[in-house]
Order: sequence, then C-alpha cells, then structure tokens
Amino acid sequence: PQESKWQVWTEEHVKRTFQKREQKAHKGTFGTGLLLAGSDEMPGSALLAGIGALRSGIGKLTIGTSRFVAGVLAGRIPEAMYAHDGLQKVVNGQVPKGMKACAIGPGLPNPEEIEQALKVLFQSDLPLIIDAGALQERRYPSRKAEIILTPHPGEFSKMTGIPVPDIQKNRLYFAQKYAQEQGVITVLKGRNTVIAFPDGDLFVNETGNAGLAKGGTGDTLTGMLLAFVSAEKDIKSAVANAVYFHGCSADHWGKTKAQRGLLASDVSELLPDIMKSFE
Ligand code: APR
Ligand code: MG
Repeated sequence: PQESKWQVWTEEHVKRTFQKREQKAHKGTFGTGLLLAGSDEMPGSALLAGIGALRSGIGKLTIGTSRFVAGVLAGRIPEAMYAHDGLQKVVNGQVPKGMKACAIGPGLPNPEEIEQALKVLFQSDLPLIIDAGALQERRYPSRKAEIILTPHPGEFSKMTGIPVPDIQKNRLYFAQKYAQEQGVITVLKGRNTVIAFPDGDLFVNETGNAGLAKGGTGDTLTGMLLAFVSAEKDIKSAVANAVYFHGCSADHWGKTKAQRGLLASDVSELLPDIMKSFE
C-alpha cells in the first residue's frame, strides 16, 4: 500500500501558522473547552488533560467529571469550572452552553455511556476530540464541525481490526485511508506521529522522544488539542501545532535531564517556555 504525498510538519510551518495573541484579547477570545474525562479510578487523566489545556492558553475550561474527581481536582486546578457527572449530563442531552470544542475519553471506563454521550455530541456543532476510552470501532457521521481522533497504535488496531505490526509498517497509509474514508482528522500517535486530514493532507511530526513513552502523556496531548482547537482559527495548524509543541516539551527536557524522568505534567509545565519563541 502507498499513501499519497506527505510532508514533515516543521518549525517553519509552526512559525507561519501559530497565532499571535492580541493584547486587547479577553478570555472569550480563546474559547471555552469542555473536557469529559476522569473517573474515580482514573482521576489523574482529567487532571493531566486539564492542565494541558490551561497551559496551552484555553480561555475557559469546564471539566465534566464525577463528583469525587471534581472534589479532588478543584484544589489542583482552581482555574477550571466543574460540571458534576458531566458525562451523564451529556447523555441526558444537557451539553453545557457556550462551549467552543469538546474533548472526550481520557480516564473514562464505561463504553456504553460514552457511546450515548457521543450520539448527543455528534448532533452538536462542537469540534470533538475523541481519545482513549472513547476510541472504538464505529462509523462517524458527516457533520459540519471536525472530529479529531487520537489513537496510539493499539487503539487504532481496535478501531480498524488491523494488527498493530501491519499498522506500524504502514502508518502513513492507514492513517490517511482512515481519515479519508471516515471524514475525521486522524492523529496516529507514537514516534513520528502521523496527522491525516479528510482532504488527504498528510503530515508527520518529528518532535518528541521516548521520554513520552509513559502513562499520562497522551492525556496531556488531548488537553492541548482541546485548547488549540478552541483558540486557533485554522483547525489543521491547531492540531499539528499541538502535536509539535507536545514533542518539543519532551525534547527540551531531554537537553538537560534524563528522558526517563519526564512526567506528563512536566510536558505541560514546559509549554510556556517552548511557545515563548513562537509568540
Ligand atoms: N517518541 C515520541 N513520542 C512518543 C514516544 C516515542 N518513543 N512514545 C510515546 N510518545 C507520545 C505519543 O506520540 C503520544 O503523544 O506520547 C503520547 C502517548 O500517548 P498514549 O499512548 O495515549 O499514552 P497515555 O494516554 O498517556 O497512556 C495511557 O492510553 O491506552 C490508553 O486508556 C489508556 O488512558 C490510558 C492511556
Ligand atoms: Mg492515551
């Protein structure tokens, strides 16, 4: 199998596309994101994604999670608002008002509940970032707002039935094919993350290192994507730049510290240093 032409998403792409922030901006300028994540047994995923979103410059963040997790998180992320049992609310048709985009999946254990929530969200006009527990084999409806999927190879295998070794041999091809057939932006993670768009545009990100190979870094990326999609005008560069900066943080860490000691939360903490040179 052979994909059509592709490009590396380079520093020049980022310099050209990363939006300058006007000094007369207010929080409404950068959008409110809805993060549906975290459960009593996986509270950290909501924390990591939430910090990832806030460090990436989201205007406002609402975290829909269990009451218990909201209680734990409130002290750690005082900047966020909380929708108690947010996933259940969405299932019941109550999507919080005024949102610019929604991310769903990190630390969510219940596939049936997620499926019902997605049915409601597909009807909305929110761009959707679908990750982790929310990634399943399914057909995506055609709708106006974008759908962005962020599988690692194991999740992509579950979504497509293609064995992981075959995926890894043809990452560009399979990501592009899936994006075009399903009409969704497909971010196939792992070393050299592939970013495939429904119109056939295809990019490879070369930032990042094995320091990212640990639980939680994917959750951080999902939060970053929520922020970039909420705040930036162009969706393609919003997605690609989030992936690029996520890797840059890990590379920056690796200049002075052992890769193995990197935490997912460190990725977020380093983001302001990384983005500084692009502002
Ligand atoms: N080089 C560059 N980047 C890497 C490397 C590497 N060697 N290894 C991992 N990464 C990056 C990936 O590209 C991705 O951005 O780290 C991130 C890892 O994301 P995930 O695999 O989603 O990991 P994470 O979500 O943090 O871990 C566990 O995944 O399977 C789900 O539900 C599960 O919530 C759980 C979660
Ligand atoms: Mg993950």
